[in-house]
Amino acid sequence: MTHRIAVIPGDGIGKEVMPEGVRALKAAAERFGIDLELEPFGFASCDYYAEHGQMLPDDWFEILEKFDAIFYGAVGWPETVPDHISLWGSLLQLRRRFDQYINLRPCRLLPGIQSPLAGRKPGDIDFYVVRENTEGEYSSVGGKMFEGTEREIVIQETVMTRHGTDRVLKFAYELAQSRPRKKLTSATKSNGIAITMPWWDERVSEMSGHYPDVTVDQFHIDILTANFVMHPDWFDVVVASNLFGDILSDLGPACTGTIGVAPSANINPEGTFPSLFEPVHGSAPDIAGKGIANPIGQIWSAAMMLEHLGYQEAAGAIVAAFEEVLSEGDVTLLTPDVGGHGTTESLGLAIAERIMR
Ligand code: NAD
Ligand code: IPM
Ligand code: MN
Repeated sequence: MTHRIAVIPGDGIGKEVMPEGVRALKAAAERFGIDLELEPFGFASCDYYAEHGQMLPDDWFEILEKFDAIFYGAVGWPETVPDHISLWGSLLQLRRRFDQYINLRPCRLLPGIQSPLAGRKPGDIDFYVVRENTEGEYSSVGGKMFEGTEREIVIQETVMTRHGTDRVLKFAYELAQSRPRKKLTSATKSNGIAITMPWWDERVSEMSGHYPDVTVDQFHIDILTANFVMHPDWFDVVVASNLFGDILSDLGPACTGTIGVAPSANINPEGTFPSLFEPVHGSAPDIAGKGIANPIGQIWSAAMMLEHLGYQEAAGAIVAAFEEVLSEGDVTLLTPDVGGHGTTESLGLAIAERIMR
Protein backbone atom coordinates (compact mmCIF):
# COMPACT_ATOMS: atom_id res chain seq x y z
CA MET A 1 0.00 0.00 0.00
CA THR A 2 1.37 3.38 -1.04
CA HIS A 3 1.00 6.32 1.32
CA ARG A 4 0.95 9.71 -0.34
CA ILE A 5 2.49 12.49 1.73
CA ALA A 6 2.30 16.19 0.85
CA VAL A 7 5.53 17.91 1.88
CA ILE A 8 5.31 21.66 2.59
CA PRO A 9 8.56 23.19 3.91
CA GLY A 10 7.11 26.74 4.30
CA ASP A 11 9.43 29.55 5.39
CA GLY A 12 12.70 30.26 7.19
CA ILE A 13 14.09 27.28 9.07
CA GLY A 14 11.09 25.26 7.82
CA LYS A 15 13.08 24.97 4.59
CA GLU A 16 16.18 23.87 6.54
CA VAL A 17 14.69 21.29 8.89
CA MET A 18 12.37 19.76 6.30
CA PRO A 19 15.18 18.02 4.31
CA GLU A 20 16.26 16.34 7.57
CA GLY A 21 12.68 15.33 8.33
CA VAL A 22 12.44 13.81 4.87
CA ARG A 23 15.81 12.10 5.26
CA ALA A 24 14.63 10.44 8.48
CA LEU A 25 11.33 9.48 6.90
CA LYS A 26 13.03 7.90 3.90
CA ALA A 27 15.48 6.04 6.12
CA ALA A 28 12.64 4.57 8.20
CA ALA A 29 10.63 3.74 5.08
CA GLU A 30 13.57 1.89 3.59
CA ARG A 31 14.38 -0.05 6.75
CA PHE A 32 10.79 -1.08 7.44
CA GLY A 33 9.66 -1.55 3.84
CA ILE A 34 7.08 1.25 3.90
CA ASP A 35 5.95 2.55 0.55
CA LEU A 36 5.86 6.34 0.74
CA GLU A 37 5.30 8.74 -2.11
CA LEU A 38 6.42 12.25 -1.16
CA GLU A 39 5.20 15.22 -3.16
CA PRO A 40 6.70 18.66 -2.42
CA PHE A 41 4.69 21.89 -2.57
CA GLY A 42 5.95 25.47 -2.48
CA PHE A 43 2.64 27.01 -1.44
CA ALA A 44 1.70 27.90 2.13
CA SER A 45 4.83 30.03 2.32
CA CYS A 46 5.60 33.72 2.15
CA ASP A 47 7.66 33.11 -1.03
CA TYR A 48 4.49 31.84 -2.67
CA TYR A 49 2.66 34.92 -1.39
CA ALA A 50 5.27 37.22 -2.97
CA GLU A 51 4.56 35.64 -6.34
CA HIS A 52 0.79 35.08 -6.14
CA GLY A 53 -0.53 37.59 -3.62
CA GLN A 54 -2.04 34.77 -1.57
CA MET A 55 -0.64 31.99 0.57
CA LEU A 56 -2.50 29.10 -1.05
CA PRO A 57 -3.74 28.29 -4.55
CA ASP A 58 -7.53 28.50 -4.97
CA ASP A 59 -7.81 24.71 -5.28
CA TRP A 60 -5.58 23.86 -2.28
CA PHE A 61 -8.34 21.88 -0.58
CA GLU A 62 -8.88 19.61 -3.58
CA ILE A 63 -5.11 19.19 -4.03
CA LEU A 64 -4.35 18.30 -0.41
CA GLU A 65 -7.42 16.28 0.54
CA LYS A 66 -6.19 13.40 -1.64
CA PHE A 67 -3.09 12.90 0.49
CA ASP A 68 -2.82 10.45 3.38
CA ALA A 69 -0.93 13.01 5.47
CA ILE A 70 0.65 16.45 5.29
CA PHE A 71 4.19 17.02 6.48
CA TYR A 72 4.71 20.71 7.23
CA GLY A 73 7.77 22.74 8.22
CA ALA A 74 6.99 26.22 9.52
CA VAL A 75 5.28 29.25 8.08
CA GLY A 76 5.70 32.98 8.63
CA TRP A 77 8.09 35.69 7.48
CA PRO A 78 6.91 38.83 9.24
CA GLU A 79 9.44 41.00 7.41
CA THR A 80 7.47 40.60 4.18
CA VAL A 81 3.99 39.38 5.16
CA PRO A 82 2.19 40.26 8.41
CA ASP A 83 1.83 37.13 10.55
CA HIS A 84 -1.95 37.20 10.78
CA ILE A 85 -2.16 37.21 6.97
CA SER A 86 0.38 34.44 6.40
CA LEU A 87 -0.95 32.22 9.19
CA TRP A 88 -4.68 32.74 8.62
CA GLY A 89 -4.02 32.28 4.92
CA SER A 90 -2.31 28.91 5.36
CA LEU A 91 -1.78 26.71 8.42
CA LEU A 92 -4.89 27.85 10.29
CA GLN A 93 -7.05 27.22 7.18
CA LEU A 94 -5.66 23.71 6.87
CA ARG A 95 -6.33 22.89 10.52
CA ARG A 96 -9.89 24.15 10.31
CA ARG A 97 -10.97 22.95 6.88
CA PHE A 98 -9.45 19.49 7.44
CA ASP A 99 -11.12 19.40 10.86
CA GLN A 100 -7.83 18.61 12.61
CA TYR A 101 -9.41 19.26 15.95
CA ILE A 102 -6.69 17.60 18.04
CA ASN A 103 -3.28 19.18 18.33
CA LEU A 104 -1.22 16.59 20.16
CA ARG A 105 2.07 17.91 21.51
CA PRO A 106 4.38 15.70 23.58
CA CYS A 107 6.74 17.36 26.08
CA ARG A 108 9.52 15.06 27.15
CA LEU A 109 12.92 15.76 28.64
CA LEU A 110 15.21 13.81 26.33
CA PRO A 111 18.44 12.11 27.37
CA GLY A 112 21.49 14.29 26.92
CA ILE A 113 19.56 17.57 27.02
CA GLN A 114 19.94 19.85 29.98
CA SER A 115 16.66 21.18 31.38
CA PRO A 116 16.80 24.83 32.46
CA LEU A 117 14.97 23.64 35.59
CA ALA A 118 17.50 22.71 38.24
CA GLY A 119 17.94 19.02 38.94
CA ARG A 120 15.42 17.72 36.38
CA LYS A 121 16.41 14.54 34.57
CA PRO A 122 14.77 12.44 31.84
CA GLY A 123 11.64 10.84 33.28
CA ASP A 124 10.81 13.92 35.37
CA ILE A 125 9.14 15.69 32.47
CA ASP A 126 6.96 13.48 30.31
CA PHE A 127 3.51 14.69 29.43
CA TYR A 128 1.25 15.55 26.52
CA VAL A 129 -0.50 18.80 25.80
CA VAL A 130 -3.79 18.11 24.03
CA ARG A 131 -4.78 21.39 22.44
CA GLU A 132 -8.20 22.12 20.98
CA ASN A 133 -7.30 23.09 17.42
CA THR A 134 -10.29 24.42 15.48
CA GLU A 135 -12.27 26.83 17.63
CA GLY A 136 -11.99 28.67 20.98
CA GLU A 137 -10.04 31.91 21.06
CA TYR A 138 -8.89 31.41 17.44
CA SER A 139 -12.15 32.56 15.91
CA SER A 140 -12.89 34.82 13.01
CA VAL A 141 -16.04 36.10 14.70
CA GLY A 142 -15.76 39.77 15.50
CA GLY A 143 -14.86 43.03 13.87
CA LYS A 144 -13.91 46.65 14.14
CA MET A 145 -16.10 49.70 14.54
CA PHE A 146 -15.37 53.42 14.39
CA GLU A 147 -11.96 52.61 12.95
CA GLY A 148 -9.40 55.38 13.17
CA THR A 149 -11.41 57.38 15.71
CA GLU A 150 -11.01 57.73 19.44
CA ARG A 151 -14.10 55.53 19.84
CA GLU A 152 -12.50 52.64 17.96
CA ILE A 153 -13.83 49.25 19.13
CA VAL A 154 -12.36 45.85 18.35
CA ILE A 155 -14.13 42.64 19.24
CA GLN A 156 -13.05 39.04 18.72
CA GLU A 157 -15.27 36.36 20.15
CA THR A 158 -14.24 33.08 21.74
CA VAL A 159 -16.37 30.33 20.28
CA MET A 160 -16.74 27.06 22.17
CA THR A 161 -19.21 24.42 21.10
CA ARG A 162 -20.32 21.34 23.00
CA HIS A 163 -19.46 19.21 19.97
CA GLY A 164 -16.00 20.78 19.67
CA THR A 165 -15.22 20.67 23.37
CA ASP A 166 -16.50 17.19 24.12
CA ARG A 167 -14.54 15.64 21.27
CA VAL A 168 -11.21 17.07 22.42
CA LEU A 169 -11.95 16.13 26.04
CA LYS A 170 -12.84 12.59 24.94
CA PHE A 171 -9.51 12.30 23.14
CA ALA A 172 -7.66 13.61 26.20
CA TYR A 173 -9.49 11.30 28.62
CA GLU A 174 -8.77 8.30 26.41
CA LEU A 175 -5.12 9.26 26.10
CA ALA A 176 -4.87 9.61 29.90
CA GLN A 177 -6.58 6.23 30.30
CA SER A 178 -3.95 4.61 28.07
CA ARG A 179 -1.04 5.91 30.17
CA PRO A 180 0.26 4.38 33.42
CA ARG A 181 -0.51 7.39 35.59
CA LYS A 182 -4.00 7.98 34.14
CA LYS A 183 -4.00 11.62 35.06
CA LEU A 184 -5.74 14.48 33.29
CA THR A 185 -5.19 18.17 33.98
CA SER A 186 -7.53 20.75 32.51
CA ALA A 187 -6.38 24.34 31.95
CA THR A 188 -8.94 27.12 32.24
CA LYS A 189 -9.33 30.59 33.71
CA SER A 190 -12.72 30.25 35.32
CA ASN A 191 -12.28 32.96 37.89
CA GLY A 192 -11.86 35.71 35.31
CA ILE A 193 -13.38 34.47 32.04
CA ALA A 194 -16.71 33.73 33.61
CA ILE A 195 -18.83 32.26 30.78
CA THR A 196 -16.78 30.03 28.51
CA MET A 197 -14.25 28.76 31.06
CA PRO A 198 -16.59 27.56 33.84
CA TRP A 199 -18.60 25.91 31.07
CA TRP A 200 -15.46 24.04 29.90
CA ASP A 201 -14.92 22.93 33.54
CA GLU A 202 -18.50 21.60 33.63
CA ARG A 203 -17.90 19.58 30.46
CA VAL A 204 -14.73 18.13 32.06
CA SER A 205 -16.66 17.16 35.23
CA GLU A 206 -19.61 15.73 33.38
CA MET A 207 -17.41 13.57 31.16
CA SER A 208 -15.28 12.33 34.06
CA GLY A 209 -18.12 9.92 34.91
CA HIS A 210 -17.26 7.93 31.78
CA TYR A 211 -13.62 7.58 32.85
CA PRO A 212 -13.72 6.58 36.54
CA ASP A 213 -10.11 5.35 36.44
CA VAL A 214 -8.76 8.75 35.33
CA THR A 215 -7.76 11.24 38.05
CA VAL A 216 -8.72 14.74 37.02
CA ASP A 217 -7.51 18.08 38.24
CA GLN A 218 -8.15 21.59 37.07
CA PHE A 219 -5.94 24.67 37.28
CA HIS A 220 -6.35 28.27 36.37
CA ILE A 221 -3.91 28.93 33.55
CA ASP A 222 -1.85 31.47 35.51
CA ILE A 223 -0.85 29.12 38.32
CA LEU A 224 -0.65 26.22 35.86
CA THR A 225 2.17 27.96 33.99
CA ALA A 226 3.96 28.43 37.32
CA ASN A 227 3.49 24.75 38.11
CA PHE A 228 4.88 23.72 34.72
CA VAL A 229 8.12 25.31 35.91
CA MET A 230 7.99 24.32 39.59
CA HIS A 231 6.44 20.84 39.34
CA PRO A 232 6.59 19.55 35.75
CA ASP A 233 6.52 16.01 37.18
CA TRP A 234 2.88 16.51 38.25
CA PHE A 235 1.61 16.37 34.68
CA ASP A 236 0.60 13.47 32.47
CA VAL A 237 -2.03 14.69 29.98
CA VAL A 238 -2.92 18.39 29.94
CA VAL A 239 -5.97 19.44 27.96
CA ALA A 240 -6.57 23.06 27.02
CA SER A 241 -8.37 25.45 24.74
CA ASN A 242 -6.73 26.60 21.51
CA LEU A 243 -4.89 29.62 22.97
CA PHE A 244 -3.98 28.13 26.34
CA GLY A 245 -2.80 24.97 24.57
CA ASP A 246 -0.64 27.07 22.27
CA ILE A 247 1.06 28.78 25.20
CA LEU A 248 1.51 25.59 27.24
CA SER A 249 3.02 23.78 24.26
CA ASP A 250 5.88 26.31 24.02
CA LEU A 251 6.36 26.48 27.79
CA GLY A 252 6.44 22.68 28.21
CA PRO A 253 9.19 22.16 25.62
CA ALA A 254 11.11 25.15 26.99
CA CYS A 255 11.21 23.26 30.32
CA THR A 256 12.76 20.37 28.40
CA GLY A 257 15.67 22.54 27.24
CA THR A 258 14.68 23.75 23.74
CA ILE A 259 11.56 24.20 21.66
CA GLY A 260 13.62 22.93 18.71
CA VAL A 261 12.85 19.29 19.55
CA ALA A 262 9.09 19.60 20.08
CA PRO A 263 6.81 17.85 17.56
CA SER A 264 3.11 18.08 16.92
CA ALA A 265 0.31 16.15 15.29
CA ASN A 266 -2.74 18.04 14.04
CA ILE A 267 -5.14 15.14 13.89
CA ASN A 268 -8.47 14.51 12.27
CA PRO A 269 -9.14 11.31 14.24
CA GLU A 270 -11.96 10.10 11.99
CA GLY A 271 -9.61 10.05 8.99
CA THR A 272 -12.13 11.96 6.86
CA PHE A 273 -9.34 14.39 6.00
CA PRO A 274 -5.55 14.18 6.09
CA SER A 275 -3.81 14.93 9.38
CA LEU A 276 -0.88 17.34 9.49
CA PHE A 277 2.48 16.86 11.22
CA GLU A 278 4.84 19.76 11.99
CA PRO A 279 7.27 20.92 14.62
CA VAL A 280 5.86 23.20 17.33
CA HIS A 281 8.36 25.95 16.51
CA GLY A 282 8.07 28.59 13.84
CA SER A 283 10.29 29.84 11.04
CA ALA A 284 12.85 31.37 13.46
CA PRO A 285 13.95 34.39 11.40
CA ASP A 286 16.72 35.07 13.95
CA ILE A 287 18.62 31.91 12.99
CA ALA A 288 17.26 31.24 9.48
CA GLY A 289 19.95 30.89 6.82
CA LYS A 290 22.61 29.81 9.31
CA GLY A 291 22.01 26.07 9.02
CA ILE A 292 21.93 25.62 12.80
CA ALA A 293 18.25 24.93 13.51
CA ASN A 294 17.60 21.78 15.48
CA PRO A 295 15.89 19.31 13.11
CA ILE A 296 14.57 17.02 15.87
CA GLY A 297 11.14 18.72 16.09
CA GLN A 298 10.67 17.97 12.39
CA ILE A 299 12.10 14.45 12.68
CA TRP A 300 9.98 13.58 15.72
CA SER A 301 6.94 14.88 13.79
CA ALA A 302 7.85 12.39 11.05
CA ALA A 303 7.72 9.66 13.70
CA MET A 304 4.28 10.83 14.82
CA MET A 305 3.14 10.74 11.20
CA LEU A 306 4.37 7.17 10.71
CA GLU A 307 2.64 6.14 13.93
CA HIS A 308 -0.57 7.75 12.68
CA LEU A 309 -0.24 5.76 9.44
CA GLY A 310 0.06 2.55 11.49
CA TYR A 311 3.83 2.06 11.61
CA GLN A 312 4.54 1.91 15.33
CA GLU A 313 7.88 0.15 14.97
CA ALA A 314 9.24 2.58 12.38
CA ALA A 315 8.13 5.49 14.56
CA GLY A 316 9.89 3.93 17.55
CA ALA A 317 13.09 3.50 15.52
CA ILE A 318 13.15 7.20 14.69
CA VAL A 319 12.67 8.20 18.34
CA ALA A 320 15.31 5.68 19.46
CA ALA A 321 17.71 7.10 16.85
CA PHE A 322 17.52 10.72 18.02
CA GLU A 323 17.60 9.67 21.67
CA GLU A 324 20.77 7.69 20.96
CA VAL A 325 22.48 10.57 19.18
CA LEU A 326 21.51 12.97 21.98
CA SER A 327 22.73 10.57 24.69
CA GLU A 328 26.10 10.21 23.00
CA GLY A 329 26.50 13.98 23.32
CA ASP A 330 28.96 14.48 20.44
CA VAL A 331 29.13 18.29 20.36
CA THR A 332 30.40 18.29 16.78
CA LEU A 333 27.04 16.84 15.68
CA LEU A 334 24.58 18.61 18.00
CA THR A 335 23.03 21.99 17.19
CA PRO A 336 23.79 25.03 19.41
CA ASP A 337 20.38 25.00 21.18
CA VAL A 338 21.38 21.68 22.78
CA GLY A 339 24.94 22.69 23.55
CA GLY A 340 26.73 21.65 20.37
CA HIS A 341 28.46 23.39 17.49
CA GLY A 342 27.15 21.18 14.72
CA THR A 343 24.58 21.95 12.06
CA THR A 344 21.04 21.00 11.09
CA GLU A 345 22.57 18.65 8.55
CA SER A 346 25.18 17.06 10.81
CA LEU A 347 22.52 16.21 13.38
CA GLY A 348 20.05 15.05 10.72
CA LEU A 349 22.63 12.82 9.04
CA ALA A 350 23.65 11.24 12.34
CA ILE A 351 20.03 10.46 13.17
CA ALA A 352 19.27 9.02 9.72
CA GLU A 353 22.33 6.83 9.97
CA ARG A 354 21.09 5.41 13.31
CA ILE A 355 17.63 4.80 11.87
CA MET A 356 19.15 2.62 9.14
CA ARG A 357 21.06 0.43 11.59
P1 NAD B 1 9.87 30.67 16.57
O1 NAD B 1 9.43 29.36 17.09
O2 NAD B 1 10.08 30.74 15.11
O3 NAD B 1 11.23 31.09 17.29
C1 NAD B 1 11.31 31.34 18.68
C2 NAD B 1 12.76 31.17 19.18
O4 NAD B 1 13.08 29.77 19.21
C3 NAD B 1 13.78 31.83 18.29
O5 NAD B 1 14.82 32.36 19.09
C4 NAD B 1 14.33 30.69 17.45
O6 NAD B 1 15.63 30.86 17.00
C5 NAD B 1 14.21 29.50 18.40
N1 NAD B 1 13.96 28.25 17.64
C6 NAD B 1 12.81 27.90 17.03
N2 NAD B 1 12.96 26.72 16.41
C7 NAD B 1 14.21 26.32 16.62
C8 NAD B 1 14.96 25.17 16.22
N3 NAD B 1 14.42 24.20 15.48
N4 NAD B 1 16.24 25.08 16.62
C9 NAD B 1 16.80 26.04 17.40
N5 NAD B 1 16.15 27.14 17.80
C10 NAD B 1 14.86 27.28 17.42
O7 NAD B 1 8.81 31.74 17.06
P2 NAD B 1 8.59 33.27 16.65
O8 NAD B 1 9.91 33.95 16.56
O9 NAD B 1 7.57 33.77 17.55
O10 NAD B 1 7.96 33.23 15.19
C11 NAD B 1 8.67 33.39 13.98
C12 NAD B 1 7.69 33.19 12.82
O11 NAD B 1 7.20 31.86 12.81
C13 NAD B 1 6.46 34.07 12.87
O12 NAD B 1 6.11 34.38 11.56
C14 NAD B 1 5.41 33.18 13.51
O13 NAD B 1 4.10 33.56 13.21
C15 NAD B 1 5.77 31.87 12.87
N6 NAD B 1 5.35 30.66 13.61
C16 NAD B 1 4.92 29.62 12.86
C17 NAD B 1 4.59 28.41 13.47
C18 NAD B 1 4.15 27.27 12.64
O14 NAD B 1 4.36 27.25 11.44
N7 NAD B 1 3.54 26.26 13.21
C19 NAD B 1 4.76 28.29 14.85
C20 NAD B 1 5.21 29.38 15.60
C21 NAD B 1 5.51 30.57 14.96
C1 IPM C 1 1.66 26.94 16.67
C2 IPM C 1 1.80 28.37 16.20
C3 IPM C 1 0.53 28.85 15.51
C4 IPM C 1 -0.63 28.76 16.49
C5 IPM C 1 0.65 30.29 14.97
C6 IPM C 1 1.83 30.46 14.11
C7 IPM C 1 -0.63 30.74 14.32
O1 IPM C 1 2.14 29.20 17.28
O2 IPM C 1 1.46 26.06 15.82
O3 IPM C 1 1.78 26.71 17.87
O4 IPM C 1 -0.84 29.67 17.28
O5 IPM C 1 -1.32 27.76 16.45
MN1 MN D 1 2.58 28.15 19.12
